[in-house]
Amino acid sequence: MTTQLQQTFPFHNNVCEGIPEQMDRFPRFRYMGSKFRLLEWIHATLLELEFDTAVDAFCGSGAVSYLMKAMGKEVHSNDSLNFPHILSKATISNQKTTLNNEDLEFLLKNRKLCDSSKFIQNKFEGIFYTPQELEFLDRVWFGIRELSPAKQSIAISAMLRSAIKRQPRGLFTVAGDPERYKDGRRDLRLTLQEHFSEQVSIYNQAVFSNKKKNRSSHGDVLSIPKGKNLVYMDPPYVPKSDDNCYMKRYHFLEGLSCYWKGQEIMENSKVKKIAKPFTPFSYRRTAIQAFDDLFHHFADSTLVLSYSSNAFPDLDTLIGLMRSYKKHVEVLCKDHTYHFGTHAKAKRNKVEEYLIIGTS
Ligand SMILES: C[S@@+](CC[C@H](N)C(=O)[O-])C[C@H]1O[C@@H](n2cnc3c(N)ncnc32)[C@H](O)[C@@H]1O
Repeated sequence: MTTQLQQTFPFHNNVCEGIPEQMDRFPRFRYMGSKFRLLEWIHATLLELEFDTAVDAFCGSGAVSYLMKAMGKEVHSNDSLNFPHILSKATISNQKTTLNNEDLEFLLKNRKLCDSSKFIQNKFEGIFYTPQELEFLDRVWFGIRELSPAKQSIAISAMLRSAIKRQPRGLFTVAGDPERYKDGRRDLRLTLQEHFSEQVSIYNQAVFSNKKKNRSSHGDVLSIPKGKNLVYMDPPYVPKSDDNCYMKRYHFLEGLSCYWKGQEIMENSKVKKIAKPFTPFSYRRTAIQAFDDLFHHFADSTLVLSYSSNAFPDLDTLIGLMRSYKKHVEVLCKDHTYHFGTHAKAKRNKVEEYLIIGTS
């Protein structure tokens, strides 16, 4: 079998004017609350602030981390979920490692797997994807264990982006055979394996060095070491419904990022969800204290908080909290529409987006 990495560049992200060209190589990830579409504004704002080192404390898809890396900053990218951490390991802390054709061939090689290596097939048959695709995921994971950590992060990221593209609506809340949703869209037409080869090429091309010591970590925001010049914060919002939960939407990606190692699966749930981790930002009773703790923790850095008008606590409360730690607090405002889903029934939420900036 010969496998060739396809050349899929340029990706036509159509990132806006003035933004570093490197952003055209960012593997855009369909992620709830992603700030990808606000990058031009965020970039223009960051250009006005003096900093060499930065934290992206709730990195999610990694769009803002990648932007700051492309701006030449030393970036520490963090998230409490593992799969965003793996995505940023591949694109932020990794500066040079890519997968070559031999690596790809090795991963795709036909293998006879023993029962303990068929976890995905056994657990998710009839829930997500086709049986052949589930077998493919087990097989690739078997090979991934043999790679170096940096190569692993590229291979897992390629698997994650393939998995979300191939999943109807990019959500793992309901079970569904992708064959049923075939509507001509390329992402649903390609098999996971076809996506995977393409995604390896896309992640390879996203790798670059900005000659800084960048980092990626996985943990609670308060465990991030202090001391960086600037901290960008984009925490989750207190949800209007349970659907806003990151784990509920993306549990399959979270499990896939670590082969479900150490994850508590809710066996009674139809889609074999992973138990929801606690975050104080998601509850009315704990959110205000969580913001206070957050600003206190990073009080010595320039603070940049992304926030929106439909969230709790309200803008005045947040400004008041930030003022206890920073001498100057400025609010920038922009109209923004969030799109959920891709079809005509997609909900559109018009909100005002804020950047709340605290400096000494
Ligand atoms: C709004 S999203 C960030 C989106 C990101 N800025 C982007 O452009 O894709 C919020 C993220 O915060 C993470 N998160 C939630 N609670 C956290 C905590 N206590 N510490 C660190 N990350 C947390 C979630 O997993 C989620 O990825």
